[in-house]
Amino acid sequence: MMVQAPAETQTTAAPPPVVRPRRLRLSPAMRAMVRETHLRAEDFIYPLFVTHGRGVRQPVSSMPGVCQLSVDQLGATAERAASLGIPAVILFGLPAAKDPIGLENFDPAGIVPQAVRAIKAAAPELVVITDVCLCEYTDHGHCGLLNAGAFHLPEGYVLNDATLDILQRTAVCHAAAGADIVAPSGMMDGMVAAIRRALDAHDFQHVSIMSYAVKYASAFYGPFRDATDGAPKFGDRKTHQMDPANAREALREAALDVAEGADFLMVKPALPYLDIIRRVRDAFPEMPLAAYNVSGEYAMIKAAAANGWLNEEQAALEALLGIKRAGADLIITYHALDAARWLG
Ligand code: PBG
Repeated sequence: MMVQAPAETQTTAAPPPVVRPRRLRLSPAMRAMVRETHLRAEDFIYPLFVTHGRGVRQPVSSMPGVCQLSVDQLGATAERAASLGIPAVILFGLPAAKDPIGLENFDPAGIVPQAVRAIKAAAPELVVITDVCLCEYTDHGHCGLLNAGAFHLPEGYVLNDATLDILQRTAVCHAAAGADIVAPSGMMDGMVAAIRRALDAHDFQHVSIMSYAVKYASAFYGPFRDATDGAPKFGDRKTHQMDPANAREALREAALDVAEGADFLMVKPALPYLDIIRRVRDAFPEMPLAAYNVSGEYAMIKAAAANGWLNEEQAALEALLGIKRAGADLIITYHALDAARWLG
């Protein structure tokens, strides 16, 4: 027997929809036909932490799956990344000793030059990016040289122009070891122009600069600072990294770095700053744009997955897709190897 809807419902019901977006979601093949954003292994940059010693694979407790590696361990990891179709790695060095200036940062025999050479020997096709900053190398953990009371600046203030000199030496040192791209991460004013000048003066015109152009003073760097023992011993980074409240200022920072000769821009972190990625993408359509899916973003997914609260593969791929959809061409992510494998 047919069930009659009450008369009242018949008179007020909307006509059946003519436009039905669900038609395009009917099958996997149909969904694939209309998919707007594609995640590929070529989108990823894999971060590596390099430490002194031999045979070292020291797990970072707040970043499950991430290890500090000694130079002799890098070749196998580099080959694995390359075989998965990942085009680039970014290196962070842990020095043998820390001091107020961070001398190992620009030592040709230092940890990063050794690492660059090892990776180039094992996987010559891989693009090698080096992070250029002071905080992993200085005993005070700050991203620059500190004011000792002069210049009418606060005690402990990170000196801008004196720091540029160290960044120049470091960039040239990394380039001489064979780095393809240097990535200054300290948010010093004028850092891109200074590094470009130094590279060119040493005949490294072909070495690119990926600027951490828009880097926020973020709580999401916590696990990274465990990995590099790079937390500031006092104070914070708010006099150089950006205020998370600011978006217009991001465009100003990006514009300066473009004018100074940056080859790539970066926004960091990624997930709480998808709006910033989109704005930078729209304001500088001509620039390659990277986003850094930082340590805290990785740790959140790992921790939830370890508790059985999230499916790691699905959550990580969705987060990476979101970063790409927001406008990033490249994503620096600790999930790079897994994601490349999942994407198969
Ligand atoms: C500074 C640097 C940091 C990160 C990358 N480069 C730390 C900081 O600014 O305090 C963070 C990356 C991450 O959290 O994954 N050299």
